[in-house]
Formats: sequence, C-alpha cells, structure tokens
Amino acid sequence: MRIAVPEFSMVVVIGTSGSGKSTFCRNFLPSEVLSSDTFRGYVCDDEDSLDVSQHAFDALHFMLGKRLELGRLTVVDATNVQKESRAPLLAIANKWHALRVAIILDTPEALCRERNEVRPNRQFGPHVIRNQRADLRRTFGQLKAERYHKVYYVKPEDANDIEIVREPIWSRKPDEHGPFDIIGDVHGCMTELNELLVKLGWKLDPLTHPDGRKLIFVGDLVDRGPDSVGVLKLVMKAVGEGSALCVPGNHDIKLMRALAGKKVTLNHGLAETLEQLAAESEEFRAAVQSFLEKLVSHAVLDNNKLCVAHAGLPQEMQGRGSGAVREFALYGETTGEIDEFGLPVRYEWARNYRGKALVVFGHTPVPRPEWLNNTIDIDTGCCFGGSLTGLRYPERELVSVSAHETYCEPIRPIGHNEDSVSSQQAADDVLDLQDVVGRMSVETRLANRITIREENAVAALEVMSRFAADPRWLVYLPPTMSPCGTSERDGYLEYPSEALDYYRSAGVSKVVCEEKHMGSRAVAVVCKSPEVALRRFGVDSGDLGIITSRTGRRFFDDLSIERTLLERLVKATQSSGVFNELESDWILLDLELMPWSAKAVGLLREQYAPVGAAAEASARIWTEVTTLLAARGVEGAEAFQEKAHNRAASASRFRDAYRRYCWTVNSIEDYKLAPFHLLSSEGNVHIDKSNEWHMATLARICEQDPAILVKTPFQVVNLESEEECEAVCKWWEDLVSRGGEGMVVKPFDFIVTDGHRTLQPAVKCRGPEYLRIIYGPEYLEPANLANLRKRGLNRKRSLASREFALGIEALERFARNEPLRRVHECVFGVLALESEPVDPRL
Ligand code: CTP
Ligand code: MG
Repeated sequence: MRIAVPEFSMVVVIGTSGSGKSTFCRNFLPSEVLSSDTFRGYVCDDEDSLDVSQHAFDALHFMLGKRLELGRLTVVDATNVQKESRAPLLAIANKWHALRVAIILDTPEALCRERNEVRPNRQFGPHVIRNQRADLRRTFGQLKAERYHKVYYVKPEDANDIEIVREPIWSRKPDEHGPFDIIGDVHGCMTELNELLVKLGWKLDPLTHPDGRKLIFVGDLVDRGPDSVGVLKLVMKAVGEGSALCVPGNHDIKLMRALAGKKVTLNHGLAETLEQLAAESEEFRAAVQSFLEKLVSHAVLDNNKLCVAHAGLPQEMQGRGSGAVREFALYGETTGEIDEFGLPVRYEWARNYRGKALVVFGHTPVPRPEWLNNTIDIDTGCCFGGSLTGLRYPERELVSVSAHETYCEPIRPIGHNEDSVSSQQAADDVLDLQDVVGRMSVETRLANRITIREENAVAALEVMSRFAADPRWLVYLPPTMSPCGTSERDGYLEYPSEALDYYRSAGVSKVVCEEKHMGSRAVAVVCKSPEVALRRFGVDSGDLGIITSRTGRRFFDDLSIERTLLERLVKATQSSGVFNELESDWILLDLELMPWSAKAVGLLREQYAPVGAAAEASARIWTEVTTLLAARGVEGAEAFQEKAHNRAASASRFRDAYRRYCWTVNSIEDYKLAPFHLLSSEGNVHIDKSNEWHMATLARICEQDPAILVKTPFQVVNLESEEECEAVCKWWEDLVSRGGEGMVVKPFDFIVTDGHRTLQPAVKCRGPEYLRIIYGPEYLEPANLANLRKRGLNRKRSLASREFALGIEALERFARNEPLRRVHECVFGVLALESEPVDPRL
C-alpha cells in the first residue's frame, strides 16, 4: 500500500490499542514519531502509567509545536480516537501551517484483543477496546470537518507492506538559484512589459536572456491594462519553457474562477479581460484556466533565501501549504476593516518582518519600491499610470519603465512620500527591546559569528538607553586598539620595532605609520544639509550630523559647538571636492578630537591630578626627611637622597606628561579635529581603499580649514627595508621626545589577513612619557618595568578584532540600507564587548 505524505505535515495515526499504530510508525524515522507511551516514560519513567496522561500529552504537544515550527514532518502515535484528543493536535498544526494527514488503522476489534492478550502491559478488560472502537466509528464521520489533506485507511492485511512516499511541498524550490528578474504586477500592460524585459537584457522573440536568467512574476498578470491576453501568452509560454516562474495574484485567481464557470463579480477590470479572452479560441481559454489552476501560492527559492508571494508572506508561512498561507499570499493580511475608499485595511506585516528570506511582493501599488526589513513591494502601479518594475536577484537592483498612459484610475490614491523619511526609517523609529536583550550572536563578514554575553548586552542596554544622542545617528562605533608587543629595550615598555615585526611576521610588506594624537576618539557623521540628514539618517532635528564619543554619546553638551564644527567640516569637505568624488552627500569620519581635556576633564580631575599631587607631596616629604638624615650625617643617607630626587623628578614628569594634552578652550579654534579614517559615504564602506588613501584624502579635507582640522603626519614604510624601518623608529623617538603620544602602525591595505584570520587593523606604540600617565609616575623603575613586561595582549587583541569586525559589519549593513536594528545589533555589540574585563591600560 502506497501512502503519500507531504514532506512537511503532521501525520495523525488513529486506532484502538493493539491496532498496530506503533508498528506502523516504524515506517518513519524514530525521531519523527511522537508516541504517547514514550512521553509517559519521559515524564514518570513508566510508559504504562495512565495516571500521568495529562503531563505526557502536555509534553507531546509542546514537542509537536517545536517540530512543526521548524518545519519537520511529525507523526503522532496515540490512539487519537476521540475528537477532543485530536483537537489540540489540529490547533498546533494550524498554528504552524502544517498540512495534516490522517492514517486510520482499521483493525477488527477481535484481532486487537487477541494481540493484546499476549502483551503483558496491555492486560485491561475487553470494554477498553470496545469503547475505543465505538469512538473510532464516530471518528469516521468527523474527519471531513477536521479538514485533512489526505485520509488513509489501513487494513491489517495491508499493514505489513506499506510504502511511504514523501511528496515535495510545491512552494519549496531550494534548488532554484536564479539569477532572477522578478517582475511586479503587470495587469495587462504588455507594451511596458516588453520594454522592461528589453531593459533587463532579455531578447524578445524567442524570449531568452544571454546570462541565463529566469523571470519570476509576482502575480496579477491580468485586468485593468489594455492587453491581458498578450501578457498571459508571454508568461504561459515562458513558464512552459522553463524560463519563468509565476505565483498567482488575486486577479489571476478570480479570472480562473470565472473561467471555471463560478459566479464572480465582474469588477476591477475582469469584464474587459473576459471580453479580450472571448476573442480567443476555446482551446486557449482552457489553457489559461489550467495554467492558473496549477499556480502555487508562493515560491521559496535559493536555499530559503528568497520568497516571492503576491501580497507578501510572514516567515512562519513560508514554504508551507495551508489554506491560510494561500489566503495570505493572495490577499495579504487584513484587519477586516474597510477604509474610506472601501478597500480592506491591511496590517503591516512587513514592518514586523524579521525573517531571513528576502520577500518580494506586489499587490499594493506604491510610488516607488522601498526596502523594508528585508522585504520589498515592487508593484509600482503601471496600470494606474505609474511604472512597471523589475528586481534583479541576487543583485537587488531595481529597473523600471514608465507607463505609457493611465489605463485605470486608482481607487485609493497611491501614497507619496518623496522627501520624507522612508518606510524603513519610519519603522525604525524606535528601538525594539526584543532585538537587543539576551545573548546575541552576530554574523559578521570579517570574523564570522560573534557572541555577545547576556550580562554584557545588559550593560550596553543600560548605556544605550541613557543616550542623549538620537540612535538613528549611531551607525558605527570604533573598535579598541591593541598596543604593540612589549619591548625589552632599556627604558622602554613599547617601541616601534615590535609593531613593525607584528605585521612583517604576518607577511605584510608595507605599513602606514601615523602620528597618534592625544585627545579623545570621536566619530563624526557629516551631512551636506539637514535634508540629507533626514533622507539618509531619518533624523529631522535640523542638524548637519553628529559628533559622538566612542561610547555613542554626543561629544559636546553645548550643541552650538557641535554645529559650528560640523558646518566647518561640511565646508572643508565640499571645497576639497571629496563629496563630489565619492558621489555622496555625507561622510562618516573616525577621528581624534583635541584637547584631551575637552572630554576627559573628569578623568583628569579625579585620577591624574590627584595622583600627580600625591606623588609630588610624597616626593617633597622624602626630600625633607632625607635632607635631615644627610644633615645628621646618617650612614647611607645619600642613597635615600638620590631616591628622593628620582621620585621628585618622576612626579613632575608625570604632571608635565598629562598637562601637555590639556589646554583651555576659549574659542572654537581651540578645538582640533584629526580625522584618520574616511570610513563611509553613500553606498560605500571604504575598507577597499588603502590606509594611504584614507590619510591622503583626509589631508585634502584638512587643508581646507587648518585652523581646526589637523592633517596627521604619516609615513609609508617598506618592511623589507631595514633602513626605512630604522628611520621610522627614529621618527617615533623624535615625536615622543617632543611630547607626542606615539604612533599607530597600520597595514597598507585596510583589511589584511594572514591566510586564515584578519590581522589587527592597527597597533599603537606609545611613547615613554605618555605611558607614564597610564602606568604611574615611577613605572620606569627597573622593578616596576620588569613587572609590567609580563603583560599579555591576547585578550586585548581578540577584543579589538571582534569590535573591528562588528564596526565594519554595522557600516556595511547601513550601506545596504538594511533595517536599523540590523545595524544596531553590531553597534550594540561593540558597546557590549567594551564591558569585557580587559586591562584598561592596554
Ligand atoms: N502486531 C502484529 N501484527 C501487526 C501489527 C502489530 O502482530 N501487523 C502486534 C505487535 O507486535 C504488538 C501488538 O500487535 O505486539 C500491538 O501492536 P502495536 O503496533 O504496538 O499496537 P498499538 O496500536 O500501538 O497499540 P497501543 O495503542 O496499545 O500502543
Ligand atoms: Mg503503541
């Protein structure tokens, strides 16, 4: 006996005890079968205990739901002879849009009894099977109302020779990889369809594409436009030849019903379509009818990465086949209410969409296609005088042709939202807590999957929720940077040779060495105008951008300072020609903002100044005491005196060290901005450019306004040349002896791997006086230095790599116009990682 079951379905096995259910279930994988006896065993260690039935079924139902949620075929092995026991199964199958199959083991009562007599654990009275048999008889009458996809009756004589055939779910086409040209609602607009196909590179007669592309029609081929027949002919032929796929639209289905002789209202252009069809042959009409009847509600293609459905489809319905799925795919989700134009009010499923598959749909005409949470509506209302749109997949490119005329007046005006925020930006208006709580796992291009621990995510949430900055600006946070390896050189904890060695030993031949400014890390979003800020970032505050700290807070409390700095950045970028060259109205900069005291005033007041004061005070006492000792002629006093002298010197050097980076700000030009990465502009993340390009391009911007923009000195060093390496070490020594913080060494190319992982994007090499601020006045005392040289860099490096990967991922997602929550996932990740315990002095 051949039993066909859809590859994704719930199979309910029905039969009395001893009818052979468990035996029959051996035709499936053991993991596919949920047996009530097994669940009795799970909950109380005794498969025969009838006392725990409720618990066992609760657990079984839970497991059934999980499996169906994941799209796995599941077989329920229990007597299932009562309507009440089947009801919860049906509800669960409904929830997950699983098709249902009933298999009834129609085994005579006597045979069941006979079998059970030899089963030690089935020694119950004859009434049990008799009652079950009575229930089963009632079941026969109930099955129709329970709406099974298929019902099978298995007689005992057939039971030993069963063949289970798994039928594919028609909507699942994982092996169709495209590339595709997906066409929006055509509605009989044949001229425009031909034009669009040509624009997409198709040859028309016969219909072929030189790159072997395939067409997908999102449905609504007919009605309203002038030539529904022409469109049907083209699509039917292309589908027949295998160069196109088509999903049905509500108009197509209504036409199908009309052709089948069903009673339908002849409105919305259907009468005209039927008129056009009346001029065709009977044979053609029959062909149209059969073509439409065969259309499958939707298609899930390319390993579940693409879903095409006329009115869209939420994730839990994709690749499933219930009536509800078909309804949704054809008509969309409606609230049941009618709007002022007499049309159904729709839920915005796409606003809440979180699925992995890109959903391409039509049905609702829009003035222009807009990306929203990995969905896109490509019905641009051609029949209403709009345009016909095609989407190239996987390229995600949109191609449109304008309608030649308005073939039909729209009932409801097609919304206009030019010059305002996009649907995505409107949907992104608030951060959804659900998207950021709990353990996170972020897939990045540069470092694979990065896991954020829950407690770190909580810490980040705490910081984020207190942001004064509008989160829509937060598309990037900078990573931390690791120092170079520890130097063994006399009097140094860090020295450039270790930084050069790091890259040389990883196979890098050229590096860029940049002077490191001592200020605070900042990120600047710079928009040409407030309109650009609104259009691209969805922020309508009238600002030209923002300058944020490395934790995503607004850098300046005084917004007039920020505004002036941004205005000057815009002007400088404009006059340097960089906006034009990048074909962008905005740029995003990674920069150092000085003076240090502008941001770090609290740190200075609470940490460095007290340490300095204490060091000087104690040095003073040492001096006084040792002077007294020497005056009394105590033996060995000179050694103490020398020590006192050293302490005093260290203390004053400590003070000098941090004071160098502090100055009072009296006017705007006392601020200095030193940009070092031009990270992003419209449509681009500039990690494909070299670090030299970044420095040179930024230098051109800085030259336009030298009063506040600081051009960072840098050198390109060939690591194979001993001479150049020595020279850059001298350059560094010179820099730090003049009070510089040190330098940053980066590979020439922005992103470099050593074959299997991405190298540190930069390592810093700090000068000895600067390190005094970090490690304390007397860190260079031999005993202290020996201790400090034991520092390990692994944690810091791992952290820097992960933060870097997340930051770049955030920008790439932003460049692709992905939903803000997908960008924030990464930004949030950087912030969360910052609370990992890593030595803050590194
Ligand atoms: N059996 C048999 N021949 C068959 C099917 C079953 O002899 N074609 C025997 C089994 O070996 C078993 C008994 O009949 O000893 C009951 O079959 P089972 O599949 O366990 O029946 P179920 O319907 O699962 O019974 P219960 O509801 O009691 O679990
Ligand atoms: Mg059984």
